[in-house]
Amino acid sequence: MTVFIEPARDAADREASARMMCASEPWITLGRDYARCLTAVSDPARELHVARDGAQVAGFILLTMKGQIPGYIASVCVSAASRGSGVGTQLVTYAEARIHRESPNVFLCVSSFNLGAKRLYERLGFEFVGTLKDFIVDGHDELLYRKTIGPWSSFTPPG
Ligand SMILES: CC(C)(COP(=O)(O)OP(=O)(O)OC[C@H]1O[C@@H](n2cnc3c(N)ncnc32)[C@H](O)[C@@H]1OP(=O)(O)O)[C@@H](O)C(=O)NCCC(=O)NCCS
Repeated sequence: MTVFIEPARDAADREASARMMCASEPWITLGRDYARCLTAVSDPARELHVARDGAQVAGFILLTMKGQIPGYIASVCVSAASRGSGVGTQLVTYAEARIHRESPNVFLCVSSFNLGAKRLYERLGFEFVGTLKDFIVDGHDELLYRKTIGPWSSFTPPG
């Protein structure tokens, strides 16, 4: 399934993303309700990009481009009905291209119990960096991954 991905346009995009997020694992286990998800996707320090399937929001990806480790994928989610059709792969590939305009590194965390997402990231070339033990809730770790196109010393942002 091919989707059109672009920066979120308005409150409706943010609300659709927050609704999708709070209804899905891993955020249910991580205790993220609608209000917290809406706050997360509305954070002006982050970039929200949405995948459109016609008029529907089929998924979203939330990025952090500021701070000590720019190029962090904070969240990625595909609507339950659209999973397993390549939308998540398109969102991550799109995010990599966006991040590589400013950084050679793409970072993300995946919850230790999220085996499907782990498999997807490893297939896309992400390498495991380390374990953040009991990071969000007690009893579940966050696993830090990185995908790089090279060191900062040889990185030239595309003109
Ligand atoms: C993880 C997720 C974004 C992948 O998007 P997708 O469109 O389903 O992925 P694609 O179709 O491009 O790739 C399929 C791969 O995604 C993973 N995947 C598929 N369904 C999944 C699900 N329900 N939950 C987690 N991962 C899943 C698997 O690795 C799958 O590969 P496989 O078929 O070889 O097992 C999507 O499944 C999702 O939103 N899951 C729930 C939220 C989530 O776990 N987000 C990641 C947080 S780190």
